[in-house]
Amino acid sequence: MKKTNFLWAPIICIISVVVFAISCRENIISKQNYTTLEKSLYIDSLISSMSLEEKVSMVHGVKGTDPNGLDYVGYLPGIERLGIPPLRMQNGPSGAGATFSSHRHLAPATAFPVPAAQASTWNMPLLYQIGKVLGLETKAQERDVVLAPGVNIIRIPEGGRNFEYFSEDPHLSARCGVSIINGAQGIGTMTSVKHFVANNQDDSRFTIDEQISERALREIYLPAFEASVKEAKVSTIMAAYNKINGVYCSENPKLLTDIAKEEWGFEGFIMTDWGTRHQTVTAANAGLDVEMSGWGKFGTAQFRDHLVNAVETGEVQETTLDQMVFRILSEMYRFGLLIDNKNFEKGVMDAPEHRKLAFQVAVEGIVLLKNDDNVLPLDTSMTKSIALFGDAMEARVSGSGSSNVVPFYSVSPYEGISNYLTNNTEVVYYNKANMSLGTADTRIDPDDVAIVFLYRSSTEGSDRTSISLAEESTLIEKVANKYSKTIVVLRTSGSYTMPWLDKVDAVFQAWFPGQEEGNAQAALLFGDENPSGKLPVTFGKERRDFPASEESDFPGIDDKVNYSEGVYVGYRWFEKNNTVPLFAFGHGLSYTSFSYEDLSFSPMSSDDKVMKVSYTIKNTGVRDGAEVAQLYIEDVTASVDRPQKELKGFAKVFLKAGESERVEHSISRRDLSFWDETTSSWKAEKGAFIVAIGASSNDIRLKKSFIY
Ligand code: BGC
Repeated sequence: MKKTNFLWAPIICIISVVVFAISCRENIISKQNYTTLEKSLYIDSLISSMSLEEKVSMVHGVKGTDPNGLDYVGYLPGIERLGIPPLRMQNGPSGAGATFSSHRHLAPATAFPVPAAQASTWNMPLLYQIGKVLGLETKAQERDVVLAPGVNIIRIPEGGRNFEYFSEDPHLSARCGVSIINGAQGIGTMTSVKHFVANNQDDSRFTIDEQISERALREIYLPAFEASVKEAKVSTIMAAYNKINGVYCSENPKLLTDIAKEEWGFEGFIMTDWGTRHQTVTAANAGLDVEMSGWGKFGTAQFRDHLVNAVETGEVQETTLDQMVFRILSEMYRFGLLIDNKNFEKGVMDAPEHRKLAFQVAVEGIVLLKNDDNVLPLDTSMTKSIALFGDAMEARVSGSGSSNVVPFYSVSPYEGISNYLTNNTEVVYYNKANMSLGTADTRIDPDDVAIVFLYRSSTEGSDRTSISLAEESTLIEKVANKYSKTIVVLRTSGSYTMPWLDKVDAVFQAWFPGQEEGNAQAALLFGDENPSGKLPVTFGKERRDFPASEESDFPGIDDKVNYSEGVYVGYRWFEKNNTVPLFAFGHGLSYTSFSYEDLSFSPMSSDDKVMKVSYTIKNTGVRDGAEVAQLYIEDVTASVDRPQKELKGFAKVFLKAGESERVEHSISRRDLSFWDETTSSWKAEKGAFIVAIGASSNDIRLKKSFIY
């Protein structure tokens, strides 16, 4: 589509020249301001040419088929007479998967491992590349906005959308979100960070009223959104369905205006999730810029039906509506959609690099939880046959709901392993019918290996009713008794209880690993790749070990849910209660080993930067590999109750066998701070702090204190 607006170009030029002449004479406007002013004048001139009805048409997004017969998950129709094109949207975040009404798929796309797996890589340049491919594939399908990333916090293990989010930790979630946004927006595709804020459960998501303290909001639920705005200049924010402290997010003045727009300086536009419940006057005056209509009974059209009248009666000022339109046009201008003044990359689908990236993310995102006696990697020359049990014939590409991606191809575990084994190792699959090992018994050689694939689906729209993998206990025990090595591969959205854990030798947490699943699993099982993934969430032994085990805390009573754990989410909760996790936050094994040495501090002079922290990591094993080192801060002398420690930095370091590297982090004042509810501000208290460097949250290798 031709973006240049020939009609308006000369007018802008004339206005710009006049402004430039005046500004030069008065010597008040720098070149940079001039450019901003030029943009503002252009957009203002567009808005002043619009009728009230046209302005309102700009702030009501629709789903479905556009006048050219193309289907969209959502788009803003644009105004043809003024040369304003439609703004077309595409779902994310596991891939630029086109979904439409009732999540019907329109077109295939590269299916990456789900975001929880992406976070497990702790490899931010890799996430930047994912963002870039999301952007390129969105463009290739002639869309302008990818509805990603989702940076909500994984609060409860049952969360239906846990796989769509990155972590239980705000720092890791923020780094992941920023990387994805920078990757996509860097090639000219707008992103939408979602769901603002605290969409942490899917049961009753349209109506649930979450009671959350200001401190928990600031320390846990908001930081990833804050970083997306301040650091990555995200172009749109999608408001969540739920209420926070009695007010729907999409009509919440404190969230939308006070925090996002005023405090953080957000310059883009805020849209609703699809079909949120909101009322015209309240929402427009609260700072909502765009409503997206949804499906069925949630197909709301409040702005479309009532905003003209609200402006005419003065309940909503016309200047407010102008601001809403200004924000949309301003982002369209920034991304070259109004005037084709940017040199962005062209879109492309399913390129060979996209396939390679999907493989690499799967390899780095699969976490080796357990590897007794180094049974892995498997030596093919010593393995006569490999028996596959359970759900091995299907690739479990992604979770269900709007983020579900239909890939161009996918590789199941069976295919990946069979294709890998070009020697004489036999691969035998025992399907459900002979899972009991009955007739198969005679074929089994006691030296051989069994791999059991377990799968539990997860979906947007409802939470899981169980986090137990007990159902397969009998099978796993039988298999473990027969085979000399038993390996379990889990394809789940997160923490599950594993009553059979002691019986097996090795366990991989593979999440939903995208289109390259089987190839990545084979590469890790046979040691072509060395595992380097680490958990972005805590795995607990029992459900009661997690926060929110009372009904009033989850799923809630009478549409109300209390976040009574406050800031103690994930490992913060486990540490506060001295509960030993099944697998700790940040845990993940490698086929090599690493040592940590020589922690040192050097003070920094800037006001915000407190000091530099450095230490040396060495690969002490015989294989090349990567380590994810984590930096936690403990506030020793806090005047308020604070988590025992909090993640404030991490580094993924690739080291050849025997190689070492000095790692450096800088600590900011904000890293030392808590949200002080008495002054409503961040507070870094004077006193003693500890820097703890670890291979996981409960495998701390170096510690050193300092006085702030
Ligand atoms: C989901 C969003 C999604 C939108 C469009 C909503 O139901 O919550 O994450 O982007 O639908 O499919």
